[in-house]
Amino acid sequence: MTTTTLDRTVEIRNRIQTRNARIGIVGMGYVGLPLALLFSEERFVITGFDVDRRKVDTLNQGGSYIVRIPGEEIESARKNGFTATADYARIAEMDVVIICVPTPLNENHEPDLSYVTGTVKSIAPHLQEGQLIILESTTYPGTTEEVVVPLLEEGNQAGLKLARDAGSAGFYVAFSPEREDPGNDTVARRDIPKVVGGCGPAALNLASAVYASIFNRTVSVSSPAAAEMTKLLENIYRCVNIALVNELKQLCMRMDIDIFEVIDAARTKPFGFQAFYPGPGLGGHCIPIDPFYLSWKAKEFDFNTRFIELAGQVNLAMPYFVVENVIEAMSQQGKALHGARVLVLGMAYKRDIDDLRESPSLTIIELLQKRGAHVEYNDPFFPTVGQGRKYALNMASTPLEKIAEFDCVVIVTDHSQYDFAEIVNKAKLVIDTRNATKGIKADNIVRC
Ligand SMILES: NC(=O)c1ccc[n+]([C@@H]2O[C@H](COP(=O)([O-])OP(=O)(O)OC[C@H]3O[C@@H](n4cnc5c(N)ncnc54)[C@H](O)[C@@H]3O)[C@@H](O)[C@H]2O)c1
Repeated sequence: MTTTTLDRTVEIRNRIQTRNARIGIVGMGYVGLPLALLFSEERFVITGFDVDRRKVDTLNQGGSYIVRIPGEEIESARKNGFTATADYARIAEMDVVIICVPTPLNENHEPDLSYVTGTVKSIAPHLQEGQLIILESTTYPGTTEEVVVPLLEEGNQAGLKLARDAGSAGFYVAFSPEREDPGNDTVARRDIPKVVGGCGPAALNLASAVYASIFNRTVSVSSPAAAEMTKLLENIYRCVNIALVNELKQLCMRMDIDIFEVIDAARTKPFGFQAFYPGPGLGGHCIPIDPFYLSWKAKEFDFNTRFIELAGQVNLAMPYFVVENVIEAMSQQGKALHGARVLVLGMAYKRDIDDLRESPSLTIIELLQKRGAHVEYNDPFFPTVGQGRKYALNMASTPLEKIAEFDCVVIVTDHSQYDFAEIVNKAKLVIDTRNATKGIKADNIVRC
């Protein structure tokens, strides 16, 4: 007897409630792995899919490759049935599949959806009647309906089609953005409301039921495109406001006003103001990248996203601004950057995390080297930095004991384990791009 799709939605909901639903998470990275652990804590049996066999092997041996996730958490997930695999055939065993693969930009600053399309093409041949597929990767509005659904429909031999209503045959698709803020422990992950948009009411209800088992609140929107746009609005809001304070910082420096003092005063206003802080440039997988997903899509509608473009210009110029300040400060000391020894403090794109994707440190090091400086770095989270898609550093972290040997120390990431008073004390010259030396009075500090 064949199970009807109507039966399947009821069945999956029951299986979610009884924790018997099989959940597959594709992409065991910074987003997918913590999500897998969250479901596992709620006693779901989770299968993690990844094309990186080293990650799969590490997880299956109870190990972790993300600093803030201790191996013990993987071990206890394994006791709840968590396994990792590179075998897409096992998608067929899942009730729910959640996709958390990268969405970077290509060389021309355009969306690179190849990881998403590659993943969906790999899932499609194993798609099952009544399965729910959820995309979590950040992307432009329209991706779920225009890219994911057609690839799933074309790629399965059974001829399965998208089911919009519980009574129709086929599979279900939804989009739900990830809202994690790495390194921010002020809000428990389950207290971050989960936005969900479904391709039809059945997918929305099913996806909401899945997430309601691990998040305290789910927020339904009317379509996947609205959910995709929600994520972009959140990140563009940050990007534009950071650009605003980055620009005002440059004006404040000319006017001899401390921008950080101004922001701290402004944030005492109990309404209508949210504090954003200037820095050496944007970093991470989200803020420098996601806005360009929207500006690219907007062109299809003959629309120019001017705020995004302007914010991009200001933020991209920040590493150059830092290097200009290094040159100026050194020349004040009668030194040239060419041939000087410069130590960059912090490779991670922000404090206390082990992620250097799009980190401004990478650009700053490249710019300093181009100008003839001998550059080294220190970062407690990165004993070595090899090669990435956009860099080839092949360096090892220099011990802080050597700080006095450098002509200039540039604070790019204000990791909390740094003792900045000690650093200022030992260094010949400190360029502080993070206000890390706040309150320290010394002639060798330049804040920029
Ligand atoms: N990192 C964050 O803080 C964050 C926050 C919000 C949203 N996001 C978004 O979430 C998505 C994932 O980001 P991330 O930081 O977890 O990326 P990541 O690079 O840490 O992890 C992605 C994983 O996907 C795997 N992968 C790539 N192609 C695959 C394929 N075809 N099949 C199976 N696995 C594959 C990679 O090996 C990797 O382990 C991105 O769209 C990102 O923009 C990230």
